[in-house]
Amino acid sequence: MTSFSSPDNQERLHVEYLIDPNLVSELEDGKDVIWGLTQPQKSLAPRYFYDDRGSQLFEQICELPEYYPTRTETWILQQYAIEIAQMTGICELVELGSGSSTKTRLLLDAYQQMDYPLCYVPIDVSGGILEASAKQLLADYPTLQIRGLVGTYELALKNLMPSPLPSRAICFLGSTLGNFNQPECDRFFSQVRTALQSGDYFLLGIDLQKPIEILEAAYNDLQGVTAEFNLNILRHLNKRMSGNFNLDLFEHRAFYNTTEAQIEMHLICRRSHSVRLETLDLTVEFKEKETIFTEISRKFNLDEMQQYLAKQGFKPLQVWTDPQQWFGLILSQIP
Ligand code: AVJ
Repeated sequence: MTSFSSPDNQERLHVEYLIDPNLVSELEDGKDVIWGLTQPQKSLAPRYFYDDRGSQLFEQICELPEYYPTRTETWILQQYAIEIAQMTGICELVELGSGSSTKTRLLLDAYQQMDYPLCYVPIDVSGGILEASAKQLLADYPTLQIRGLVGTYELALKNLMPSPLPSRAICFLGSTLGNFNQPECDRFFSQVRTALQSGDYFLLGIDLQKPIEILEAAYNDLQGVTAEFNLNILRHLNKRMSGNFNLDLFEHRAFYNTTEAQIEMHLICRRSHSVRLETLDLTVEFKEKETIFTEISRKFNLDEMQQYLAKQGFKPLQVWTDPQQWFGLILSQIP
């Protein structure tokens, strides 16, 4: 057992909350929930999946036999982390959506093997999971410095401190990019670009297009963990916005939209009823079979993504993939 409270470790850990840790009501939050639940096709932003319980459920998804992305990306990192470290040289590692930081350890291991100084900036909307993983990392990497940010990507990218090391690498792993539609993608890349200087790096992990059976199985696991994860978005809103969603009145559905090359996740309403979100002063009517669109998970093409990166001001340096080409990692640099 390692103690986290030694003064030594505390000096190596700084966590800044850019959002209210008590999750009462935030104006910015409320607005997009109200908007999403009052449109003809109701929707919720996927970041609302990730309260502490949602983050735990996602960790469970990553272990599922059907959910190939995590283990495939991990395999790629296991093979090539040293190569990545050699290409970036000494740099601060910023990770968007750090979660449990499991895959990051492979990068930290590689940097450590190269005898680089270790500076890590985890960014996550779930403060609980960020702090817990940060403390574990400090215990395992004696020279590691951590400056975590709890908040949305947008807020965190605006609030990054200057890197104490010669350069910076922003990592966006796990194909979380797949949650963004095209306009959101464009905005996100311009925010990332702004947080980087000439010579800095951007490491992107993306899920690739593949047969529909494999894709749909990954989002309809037999144990029902993905269904739990999807429903948890309602539980989170209940807690965060004093809501009264009855989870028994909604059902998980996920399917692949071939035209858009994306998995779409919905919660289908089982019978008509109304829901109240107290802190938003919002009442929402649901009809039977009506859905809340909770997530898109886009599946990409490696060549198209490199062209897109180039258009957004990133210079792709290297691509790594697995033998089946199910998942891809792209390292880009700012010219
Ligand atoms: C974290 C967005 C990459 O899209 O595969 C997993 C989330 N949703 N199962 C994904 C998710 C349902 C995941 N990302």
